[in-house]
Amino acid sequence: APPVITIDGPTASGKGTIAHRVAQALGWSVLDSGALYRLTALAVQQNGTNPDDEMAVARVAQELDVAFQGEQVLLEGRDVAALIRQEQVGNLASRVAAYGPVRQALLERQRAFRMAPGLVADGRDMGTVVFPDAPLKIFLVADVRARAERRSKQLKEKGFSANLADLLESMRARDERDRTRANAPLVAAADARTVDSSSLTIDETVRVVLDLWSS
Ligand code: CDP
Repeated sequence: APPVITIDGPTASGKGTIAHRVAQALGWSVLDSGALYRLTALAVQQNGTNPDDEMAVARVAQELDVAFQGEQVLLEGRDVAALIRQEQVGNLASRVAAYGPVRQALLERQRAFRMAPGLVADGRDMGTVVFPDAPLKIFLVADVRARAERRSKQLKEKGFSANLADLLESMRARDERDRTRANAPLVAAADARTVDSSSLTIDETVRVVLDLWSS
């Protein structure tokens, strides 16, 4: 099977940016698995599905009509790339991601991204559940303050307002839920390399990952 580099970690640790840059450097494809959970949340919200109804939410996940085209994320043909970045959608994503049947529904869809010459996959359980045989697993962390500042900047760039104190609280709650859930809790794979990006630039972090890959 083609090689996979998995990049897991808590919210706003920079996984998405690093995954894209590493994929670009290697000429590989990229899987933003969080986007699939965010898309499920958005679809649930838009079609009025009861978010407490596990099986109904799993059905939405199963039937999700999505396409990734460059920067665009299409849900039923509509570009929702900016919409799914809202903190509120992230929070609902984290809620529905705790449901086993939802995770099951998205499993094969994620594995289908594995293509030659390789894949960089970012999320929470890429190294533990989705691609347990990945030859390089990164667990990307950063202190919560650095992550809140990055997320705030990212949201403002997308035209959403962001209050740092609110963000800190929302991120802590989300991390807590992701870490303590029964299904695929956020933990480093036993064979993952932990990288702390708190005081690293994007370029430096990409370099660390590429060096680990070539060593
Ligand atoms: O960008 P951020 O890290 O905040 O979030 P994300 O990676 O887009 O993921 C949104 C939510 O989806 C997370 O809080 C997780 O609960 C869930 N998720 C997951 O359970 N498993 C994944 N592989 C990816 C995301």
